[in-house]
Amino acid sequence: MSIVELDVALGDRRYPIWIGAGLLDDAQTWRGAIRGKQALIVSDEHVAPLYLERIRAGLAGVTHDAIVLGAGEASKSLENVAGVFDALAALGANRDATIIALGGGVVGDLAGFAAACWMRGVDFLQMPTTLLAMVDSSVGGKTGVNLAAGKNLVGAFHQPRAVVIDTATLATLPVREYAAGLAEIVKYGAIGDADFFAWLESHADELNARDASALAEAIARSCRQKAGVVARDEREQGERALLNFGHTFGHALEAEAGYGALLHGEAVSIGMVQAATLSARLGRAPAADGERLAVLLTRLGQPIAPPRGTDPDALLARMRLDKKNLSGRLRLVLWKGIGKAEVVPDVDEATIRAVLAGA
Ligand SMILES: NC(=O)c1ccc[n+]([C@@H]2O[C@H](COP(=O)([O-])OP(=O)(O)OC[C@H]3O[C@@H](n4cnc5c(N)ncnc54)[C@H](O)[C@@H]3O)[C@@H](O)[C@H]2O)c1
Repeated sequence: MSIVELDVALGDRRYPIWIGAGLLDDAQTWRGAIRGKQALIVSDEHVAPLYLERIRAGLAGVTHDAIVLGAGEASKSLENVAGVFDALAALGANRDATIIALGGGVVGDLAGFAAACWMRGVDFLQMPTTLLAMVDSSVGGKTGVNLAAGKNLVGAFHQPRAVVIDTATLATLPVREYAAGLAEIVKYGAIGDADFFAWLESHADELNARDASALAEAIARSCRQKAGVVARDEREQGERALLNFGHTFGHALEAEAGYGALLHGEAVSIGMVQAATLSARLGRAPAADGERLAVLLTRLGQPIAPPRGTDPDALLARMRLDKKNLSGRLRLVLWKGIGKAEVVPDVDEATIRAVLAGA
């Protein structure tokens, strides 16, 4: 098996990202990242029946147990974190215990948060099984859960000990989830790597067909970019904010459509096109680059316009609540064209509204 190894360079908290097809069965590679003698695997009801036994098989000599959550965003709750704590207590988990997150971003965010809290912080491994989690949520140490009042309101920065990306698990991922992950991959090209963007344009058909070598390349290039950004700006004081390209628009759309109606990646796809359109209107980016972005996302099966009937004023109201805003002024990640993004404070609301209205 060929394994790509990347490094998230965070000094004494540095960690590897391993990428390869069949890695879950290759405990030799990841077993060494478990320092103690106890492990708790956190997974969900779709992923556990498919892959849990493979992890268990690699844990000979480690006392372990598993907790299986319901699938979906509603599981990312404090109640389920408490369930993980109870399972850790039942295991008799000490400070050298390891939590293993086996699943998509929901499982990864929740298990990572539980790891940040248990005994003020224990090790955790990310074993992402969705494309979104492989290229985005499993790398970088943002963990957390939702409250009724909003998404991701409670959380912590807590870096994993290792990220184990078994690309073969993508074979079972539903097509819509898979395609939504491609939108996040496009984001990396759009904001930071024009060559990668062009590569995606020439490999769109292979990616749609889940071609193994194209996928491995796309995932590695995305992770390399994210790892670099995280190493330079772990706590989002600057550059890391650029990873939110399309997200302020996207979050507003997701919430307005009702969570679950649009997948996160789909909302980000629409949001990136809106951000690109706005940037062109403001004279900051070539309109032709926005066209290329929309064409690529469409080829990858992603929506590029809000659902019919979406109210622009409702979207604008939601955008005003974004965490990135300062002193009541809209602060957005805008675009300078393919490969370059920037944070722009105080963007003119009338222009934003016109873009949201599709005018
Ligand atoms: N921490 C971060 O930096 C970060 C970044 C982006 C997103 N997120 C979070 O990630 C979450 C979304 O993650 P997601 O898109 O992975 O969703 P998810 O975890 O809900 O997974 C999507 C669906 O796919 C199923 N699934 C997962 N892997 C599978 C496989 N290999 N085969 C078959 N089915 C499989 C899951 O059971 C679920 O039904 C959100 O909560 C979001 O806030 C976090």
